[in-house]
Amino acid sequence: MQEHKILGIDVGASGMKGAIVDVKTGKLVADRQRVETPKPATPEAMAIAFAKLVKMHDNYQGVVGCGFPSVVKKGVALTASNIDKSWINVNIEQIFSETSGCQVFATNDADAAGMAEMTFGAGKDQKGTVLLITLGSGIGTALFLDGKLAPNTEFGHILLHNMIAERYAASSVKDKEGLSWVEWGGRINEYLCYIERILSPDLIIIGGGISRDFENYRRFITTECRVTPAQSLNAAGTVGAALYAHHCISKQP
Ligand code: BGC
Repeated sequence: MQEHKILGIDVGASGMKGAIVDVKTGKLVADRQRVETPKPATPEAMAIAFAKLVKMHDNYQGVVGCGFPSVVKKGVALTASNIDKSWINVNIEQIFSETSGCQVFATNDADAAGMAEMTFGAGKDQKGTVLLITLGSGIGTALFLDGKLAPNTEFGHILLHNMIAERYAASSVKDKEGLSWVEWGGRINEYLCYIERILSPDLIIIGGGISRDFENYRRFITTECRVTPAQSLNAAGTVGAALYAHHCISKQP
C-alpha cells in the first residue's frame, strides 16, 4: 500500500483538475486530468463530474483530497460565490464520497494551494506573514503566520472601488472584459497594494492559472513586500488537496 500517493482534486468554478500526488515530495505522479465544472454548478451535478474525474485515475487507495471554492468548515460549504447557491450548508465530503465511493476530505481551495506552497514551494521555511493569493474565476487567499495557516480567510471579498475585489481583479475579469496586461496589471497592483496596507505581509505568493504568466505583469507590481509566483504554478491546488487528505488520514485512529 502506497499511502503517500493520494489523489488531489482542485475543484474550480470552470473546471475540476485531479492528479495523483506523492505527498512526500509534492510531485505529481501522473499527468493531471480535467473535467468541466457543470453549469449550473449544483451539488448533484458537481458530484457526478467529481466521480467521473476520480474514475480517470487509478492507484489512489480510495482516499481523495478536495480543494473547494468556498469557506469550508468540517467538510461543509458555508459560502458560494462562483458556484450554485444551493451549495450553502451542503456537506461536500459526504456528497462527493457517496457519489465517488471514495473517502473524500475537503478544504478551501486557496488554503490547499497555500499548504502546498508552504510545504514544498515558494513559502517553504518562510517565517512571518505569508499570503498566498489564487487568481482564477474568483480570488482566494491563504494566510500563514510562521508557517501556521489561519483557515478560510476571504480577502478576495474586500471592497475595492465599492466592488467585491474578485469582481474587479480576478483573472476571469481580465478575460471577460478583454483587459490588456497593462490594464489588468494596474488592477492587480491596486489590489495587492491594498492587501499590503491591511496585512503588511512579508511575502505574497500568486497562484492560479495566471501565475504562469507572471512575467507579463510583474512590472506593474509596486508593493514593498516581495511578490512571487507559486513554484508549482497552477498545480498547487491539486498538490495541496492531496496533502490535506494525507493530513486527515494521518490523524485517524
Ligand atoms: C471564494 C473563496 C475561494 C476563491 C477561489 C472565492 O469566490 O469565496 O472561498 O477560495 O473564490 O476559488
